[in-house]
Amino acid sequence: MSSQPDIKAPSDPGRLPMTLPILAEKKRLGEPIVMVTAYDYPSARAAESAGVDLVLVGDSAATTVLGYSATTPVLLEDMLVLARAVRRGLKTPLLIGDLPFGSYEVSDEQAITTAMRMIKEAGCDVVKLEGGGEASVRRARAIIGAGIPVMGHVGLTPQTSTALGGWKAQGRTAAAAAKIAEEALALQDAGCFAIVFEAIPAAVTEELMPRIEVPVIGIGAGPATDGQVLVFHDLLGIRDGLGPRFVKRYANLQQEMNEGVAAYAEDVRTGRYPGPEHTYKIDPSELAELHALLR
Ligand code: KIV
Repeated sequence: MSSQPDIKAPSDPGRLPMTLPILAEKKRLGEPIVMVTAYDYPSARAAESAGVDLVLVGDSAATTVLGYSATTPVLLEDMLVLARAVRRGLKTPLLIGDLPFGSYEVSDEQAITTAMRMIKEAGCDVVKLEGGGEASVRRARAIIGAGIPVMGHVGLTPQTSTALGGWKAQGRTAAAAAKIAEEALALQDAGCFAIVFEAIPAAVTEELMPRIEVPVIGIGAGPATDGQVLVFHDLLGIRDGLGPRFVKRYANLQQEMNEGVAAYAEDVRTGRYPGPEHTYKIDPSELAELHALLR
């Protein structure tokens, strides 16, 4: 294992770092929990300045920042680079490292080794893994047994979306919803400190919530969960197209970026950039001497 992460972010004396007991207390008090994804230093600084509770370095990085069409290709090494950058920008939110596809399924040993790398090499506080089937629950239990808290994830689990029949809402029949309930309870029994519910009908979430004791964070799971998570690039419109139904867009940064780069290109082509205010000066006597030297 290589270098230690450079962990220090600018401190905010006004806010206490998020901890698992504070998170559980938020659920008990019914205080909504705010979670967002981040993949680099600027997105981490935005999350920090907004005072969110949880930041996930999601494997959605595969599609949002690495340009893949699915989450499965992203490598653990990619996730470590991104998570380190996020760590440098965060002080108070709990930092969750997503375990990418293929980095935890093979054995308990593989899962523990991967989770430890996320903690030791990227400075994550905790990890998240997808699925509530027997194998995922076993891996969650193993990682927790090694002293690393785990967040579970049920419903639409993008790493296995092909097996789920595609990128679509889950739990839309009684049997499918009961299976999600069973999986969430199994993750809770394994000791997960929180669980993500993704793309589940709101009424199903409402049925399940009274049965779950740990904080539930929803994404496309309706308003009954203890908190919400959105993908940074979805909520800020740094993407082509609108994204899934559950996304609420708070900005349109892709358009602003496109316009900004186009304006720069136009300025260079027309000679409007750089202007005198963008250039460095030299003392006229030095310039005269340079003229002489070059002659
Ligand atoms: O990878 C990710 O961004 C996620 C969230 C959607 C929960 O898993």
